[in-house]
Amino acid sequence: DLSVKINDLTFKNPIMPASGCFGFGEDFSEIYDLNILGGIAIKSITLEPRLGNPRPRVAETPSGMLNSIGLQNPGVEKIIEEKLPFLKQLDTNIIANVAGATEEDYIEVIKRLNDFDVIKAFELNISCPNVKHGGIGLGTNPELAYNITKLAKEVSKKPVYVKLSPNVTNIVEIAKAVEEAGADAIVMINTLLGMKIDVKKGKPLIARKHAGLSGPAIMPISVSMVYKVYEAVNIPIIGVGGISCVDDVIEFLMAGASAVQIGMHNFINPYICKEIIEQLPNRIKELGYKSIEEIIGVAHE
Ligand code: DHB
Repeated sequence: DLSVKINDLTFKNPIMPASGCFGFGEDFSEIYDLNILGGIAIKSITLEPRLGNPRPRVAETPSGMLNSIGLQNPGVEKIIEEKLPFLKQLDTNIIANVAGATEEDYIEVIKRLNDFDVIKAFELNISCPNVKHGGIGLGTNPELAYNITKLAKEVSKKPVYVKLSPNVTNIVEIAKAVEEAGADAIVMINTLLGMKIDVKKGKPLIARKHAGLSGPAIMPISVSMVYKVYEAVNIPIIGVGGISCVDDVIEFLMAGASAVQIGMHNFINPYICKEIIEQLPNRIKELGYKSIEEIIGVAHE
């Protein structure tokens, strides 16, 4: 049995693409049936349209990818008009990632999306490293993380998941703050701040200099953080950060995640989520388990 429950919401399997790495799913729907997915975390939604940051805003490194997209998206109204009709036809859990420059922005986006049944949960992005206002500024301070979670819970008619930043001294402190504020689940981790220097030019390659690092390099960091947070909170965790194969998923489950998101690897192999879903039944059997639920947290005493 591959199904998992996050509070009252059932996912047919624990695999979903991570926000920002799958758009709104249209392109991927041309190469496989998206209904096989446990869920989809769609690209961050802001109140107003955003063009994103100046280029260059993506760089490859041997162990992962740096990006400084800057929350590019068409804004909530266009998403309602142009993306929700497509997503509505799907039979998978759509999770709307919400971002903004101010607390009011986040709340307004939630209000506008509240009554669309196609969205099963909100994912508060308080961890985008690439914007001047909002983003990581909210996710690296326990009081601010608490406040925005609390405000979101007050208006939201759906579960509120909070996506945490690893760019902190103690992620457990932030996790506890959002749990205290009523978060229904924690999604962790967002990208780690990094930089690449163009040695021919003698300056940072990315226009905004610093960017978010994703990919295999960050997975041990993410697993360690999930492990710690699992021991400190009582709400479900969705693990994300560097997954590229089926055993990576199992590591996250064993560390305590109830489900996972796969990000950057969709760019390397667009079939990765499908392949992992196909491999999971045999792999868990080989390892001596009958269900996904049985694996969650086994690496703890
Ligand atoms: C962006 C947002 C993120 O949360 C992230 O980790 C990386 C990039 C962005 O849109 O810039």
